Amino acid sequence: MQEPHMDQEARLLAAVKAAQTKAYAPYSNFPVGAAIIADNGEVYSGCNVENASYPEGTCAEAGAIAAMVMAGGRKIQKIYVIGNGEGLVSPCGGCRQRIREFAHADTTVHICGPEGVRAVMKLHDLLPHSFGPEQLHTHSAQE
Ligand code: THU
Repeated sequence: MQEPHMDQEARLLAAVKAAQTKAYAPYSNFPVGAAIIADNGEVYSGCNVENASYPEGTCAEAGAIAAMVMAGGRKIQKIYVIGNGEGLVSPCGGCRQRIREFAHADTTVHICGPEGVRAVMKLHDLLPHSFGPEQLHTHSAQE
């Protein structure tokens, strides 16, 4: 349960780190966690889940999005992603599109390492000129 004094960043950092500990990444040995705060204020998290048929593994972001949708969330306010190592673990191309489906103009991506947040970017800057549900003249994600 969320502690009343925890600010939003601390809450998201705790969630993303907890998610990373659940990763199933025996092939890459690269555990990743993701945590979304949706516009409804709820937090949803996911981890990467690999399998012996390497390309069939799923990213942490995909798991967090699935958890959000399953619980009825529809709009990503912020998504935190955490990985180990020196570099920035920014969402892969496929996950940028997955995030895009449930993003709004101000959705931000918070890239973290073990020490905390390393960079904050707008999804719009990671995926400019994107294709989205509007192009299909539908409402996003069956609102
Ligand atoms: N991975 C993620 O889960 N999210 C990212 O943003 C980058 C990569 C995973 C996929 C794979 O299980 C492992 O990290 C190595 O690529």
